[in-house]
Parts: sequence; C-alpha cells; structure tokens
Amino acid sequence: MIYDFDSLVSRVGMNSLKWDVREGELPMWVADMDFATAPGITRAVMDKAARGIFGYGIVPPEFYEAVRSWWATRYGWEMDARWMSNCTGIVPAVSSLIRTFAGPGEGVVMQSPAYNCFYDSIRNSSREVLANDLIWDGRFRIDWADLEARLADPRAKVLLLCNPHNPTGVIWSAEDLGRMGELASHYGVVVISDEIHCDITEPGTSYTPFASVSDLCAQNSITLVSPTKSFSIPGLQTSVVIVPNPDLRVRAVAGLKRDELTEPNSFAVEALVAAYTQGADWLDQMRAYVFRNKTHFAESVASNLPELTVIPSQATYLSWVDCGALADDATEFCAFLREKTGLVVNPGAMYGDNTRTFFRINLGCPISLVDDALTRLAHAISAWTAELSNCDPFS
Ligand SMILES: Cc1ncc(COP(=O)(O)O)c(C=O)c1O
Repeated sequence: MIYDFDSLVSRVGMNSLKWDVREGELPMWVADMDFATAPGITRAVMDKAARGIFGYGIVPPEFYEAVRSWWATRYGWEMDARWMSNCTGIVPAVSSLIRTFAGPGEGVVMQSPAYNCFYDSIRNSSREVLANDLIWDGRFRIDWADLEARLADPRAKVLLLCNPHNPTGVIWSAEDLGRMGELASHYGVVVISDEIHCDITEPGTSYTPFASVSDLCAQNSITLVSPTKSFSIPGLQTSVVIVPNPDLRVRAVAGLKRDELTEPNSFAVEALVAAYTQGADWLDQMRAYVFRNKTHFAESVASNLPELTVIPSQATYLSWVDCGALADDATEFCAFLREKTGLVVNPGAMYGDNTRTFFRINLGCPISLVDDALTRLAHAISAWTAELSNCDPFS
C-alpha cells in the first residue's frame, strides 16, 4: 500500500500544541510530525474508543513482545522482555531516572547542544548540567578530552545520551558509543540513552542501540524507547524503559513507581503494539518521504539562500540550520521570521549556549509546507538584510 504524506490533516480546533498559532502562521518547531499515523494504529485506537469505556489498564506481555521483536528484527538487538517497564513518556522517565541515579546538587553529563527538555529535567530536580559541548568542524563530533573531564567530575552520576542526537541529527557510531560506554563505566557514571529518534534514519542507514555495543554498555545503561516520534503519535504518551542490569533495574523501576509513571493510558498499549507489529511499511515510506524533504530543503537553501547553511544529517525529521551570516544570535532572527512571515522555528539558544547561531526546523510535513517555509525564509532574509542596511550609517 502507498501511504499519503502529501495531504495536510488540519489540526485547527484540536487543541494542538503545534498548531495553536495565529491565522496564516506556519508552525515548524516542536518535534511533532504533520502526517496522519499508520492506518493500523488508527484502527487499534478507534476499536478501543468504540467501546466507549476508558477504565484503568494493564500492560500485557504482547506489549513487551512487540518491542523485543522490533529491536531484534530491525536493529539486531536481542533483549529480554524482563528488562522492560512501561512508562508514560520519555521525558517523565528521564526526569525520574535522574532523580534516582543523581542526588540533589549532583551532575548529569550531556552533549550540548541538547534537546531542551534535558535541561529542564535536570534543573527542575535541582541537579547540575555538566555540558560536554560538541565540536563543530563541518560535522558534529564528541570532544573526548572534555567528556572525560566531565565524567571525572566527582559530581557526575549520569551520562544522558541522545542516540540519535536531537537537534543535530547525528547517528553516533558503534565506536563512539563504545568509547562513551567505557569512559562512563570507568568513572562509575550510569548511562541513560534516549533513543526516541532511532527509527527515523535516512533510508539505507540505521542506528546502533547503545546497550547492544558491548556487555559493558548493556550492564551500565538504561535505554529509553518509544514509537511516539516514529509513528506520529506523541500525544499518546508512552515509552519503554529497558534495563539489562538487575541491580540498576530494581532502582530504576522503584523510582518510576515512586513517581507514579507506570500506569498506561487507555490507548498506549494498543497503539504501541499496532505500531511495532503493523507499522514497518508505513515507517519506511515515511522515512523516504522525510529524507526527500530534507534533501529538497538543503538543495533549495544551497541554491537560493546563501545566507543559511543546512547541516547534513542522517537522522530525525529535523533540520539544523546555521544562520550565523545573518545574526550572532538566531533568537532575534527567529522572532523576526515569525513576525514578518509567520514561520515558527526553534532558535539554537534553546539547545545550548554553543549553538546560538543555529535554528531548528521540523520537516516532518507535506512537501508543500517545506516549499512554503522556503518562500517565507527568502522573504524574511531580504527584509532582515534591508533593515540591517537601513540601520547602517555607512551603507
Ligand atoms: C530526544 C527527545 N526525547 C524525548 C522527547 C519527548 O518524549 P516524550 O514526548 O515521550 O516525553 C523528544 C521530543 O522532541 C525528544 O526529541
């Protein structure tokens, strides 16, 4: 079956976080795709809704079996269903696990730029961010000496990894992951690997689950996965916490229960099972579509908008764009872009101090919206440049 990714499903009047914008605005910010989900998922949710009763649920073995089988088939990682717990989302799990494995005032190491909620999860629990800034030299790389220094800090208790990485779209190599795993083990730091973006890779490429790299990595890590990004169902809020090491597992699960995070909502089980048992074909067509969008966007920018540089990436539907030729801090340019053209993107400062010249744009949408965004960007850049030259007394 060929799926339709070209049509825009209107979310006006649906209390959508993304689409709660002014008329004429084009929201391409939060990581929420504009595609209707796989038909099998919609059917599973509708069948359940049709009964008209939404009582408390349980998490049956088929939920964990669907996860186990997906990772075994697609990524060659053989996990045991006993390692898994259900959770109400990835961010709630990250926050809870940070509280379990780091005490107040202790530190969480993470690569910066980083998914903005990582900062909130750490700081809202009164833990410290120990940022390991990525090196940018045409590609994003780990600064190994700095990473080792952060892990050696006596405050460091957790390494919070984003694999693949949001916002840069980098897929960490097995070699990099192994090296991170060895360093973390050496310094007694537990690794939490957020793998929510793992399914959305460029066709022909794949990712490596952190815990699959070595026994050392498996025994010192907690992996977080979810079908919500991959299948356009983030509002269904479910995730799976995978802990191979029994001692870490007891602590992790006790924390999730303490924080009341293990009750499934009425649609989580059915949606996850349908995604991982019936969604592969939809996912692969979606990946192809998204990476066509990304290529089209990058090529159009390269040909027509020389003020911008699109960073090539092999994962996520997000594009990470450097607008340093226009502004030292993209925050102001992004505000101007919204005000002048209605295009809403995320400024790089949200993700870390070291990437203020960047912005993030979500290309998980019909290609017509990508073209619309390109037109709005062109318009904003001309207006921005004209305003700058009007302000310049020497021009
Ligand atoms: C790296 C990463 N983790 C987690 C989330 C959100 O997860 P959840 O909605 O399950 O809390 C996002 C959403 O953008 C993300 O990019």
